[in-house]
Amino acid sequence: MTKSTDLVTELKAEALADLVDSITSEQREAWRVRWLGRQDGRVTQLLRSISDQPVEQRGEFGKAANTLKLLLASELKLASDRDQGAFQSADLSIDVTLPGRPQDIGAFHPITQTLHDCIKVFEDMGFQVFEGPEVEWEHYNFDAVRIPKDHPARDMWDTIWVDSIIDGERSMLLRTHTSPNQIRVMETNDPPIRVLVPGKCYRQEATDATHEWMLTQIEGLAVDEGITMSDLKGALYDFARRLFGKDREIIFHHSFFPFVEPGIEMAIDCFICSGSGGNCRTCHGAGWIEILGAGMVHPEIIENAGFDSSKFTGFAFGVGIERVAMLRWGIDDIRHFYQNDLRFLGQFSSIK
Ligand code: FA5
Repeated sequence: MTKSTDLVTELKAEALADLVDSITSEQREAWRVRWLGRQDGRVTQLLRSISDQPVEQRGEFGKAANTLKLLLASELKLASDRDQGAFQSADLSIDVTLPGRPQDIGAFHPITQTLHDCIKVFEDMGFQVFEGPEVEWEHYNFDAVRIPKDHPARDMWDTIWVDSIIDGERSMLLRTHTSPNQIRVMETNDPPIRVLVPGKCYRQEATDATHEWMLTQIEGLAVDEGITMSDLKGALYDFARRLFGKDREIIFHHSFFPFVEPGIEMAIDCFICSGSGGNCRTCHGAGWIEILGAGMVHPEIIENAGFDSSKFTGFAFGVGIERVAMLRWGIDDIRHFYQNDLRFLGQFSSIK
């Protein structure tokens, strides 16, 4: 550092100390004139003295003097702003006794809440959760569960195909049900098996009060020695009692799914018409709302997985979570769930 820049440093310390003592706006104005005034401001004089400096020091000196000028101008502004702010907040009195503004706290979607509650019931019975892909191979969604091409059972699911051609064929789709995971689980696990596979499924549906094109299912699969239809009925009965309470009516119908034998459906009495049917648009006059398909795993599927079907048996079920949610909360149309209407969804925010 040269002698001349020493001078700049000294002036800087003096000016800043002087600013600290300039408290009122009048004092700050006097400070401005004293240090930065055009006529006789001390920094102005310093800048004028550049030409008096030895030639080799002029550059460094000029730079330091200019920097000081900018710094003091900005310190003056800061001091004025601070004073202004302090004045304003002293003026705006805050009433600390007023109640705070309520914060909107997010909540699980009613379908997610219902999914969690259903999973909890089956977990208490010893089932574990697995996950499978939503974009599925045709093989798992159909062929491996005994629904070959051109089989009429494919008509039960109008399918949303993914535009991918492999070996000249469309082979991927948005899964129409969670049942492909029966195969995936048996490919990688040996009995005893007790699994749940929750997730979204997609069907090209003409939607109505009980049918959406996107639905949520939980697949359940139990494979072990000596599993019977009584185990299946007992598990499902317990599930329904825990979800809907002891006063709801439960019915099992015979049904057909190619991957189980025998196949059943479980339905709960319609909460809209109390089971009387008639013109009820929610249960389509049936008096019952079907919530799941189930059955004993077809022996061919057990064998294909590499297990001896004379030793191992199993049951499987696929629960429709939207239907369960409709029944537990008395919702007359499934389409409410996915219309993103916060007046509807907000009603479920305090449940958990
Ligand atoms: C199946 O999806 C079979 N995979 C179920 C199954 C699993 C049977 C294991 C046997 C063994 P289904 O298409 O019936 O079956 O659907 C099962 C449940 O999903 C129905 O009971 C219903 O609750 C629900 N569901 C089906 N389609 C829709 C839809 N479009 N909208 C809303 N929920 C639906």
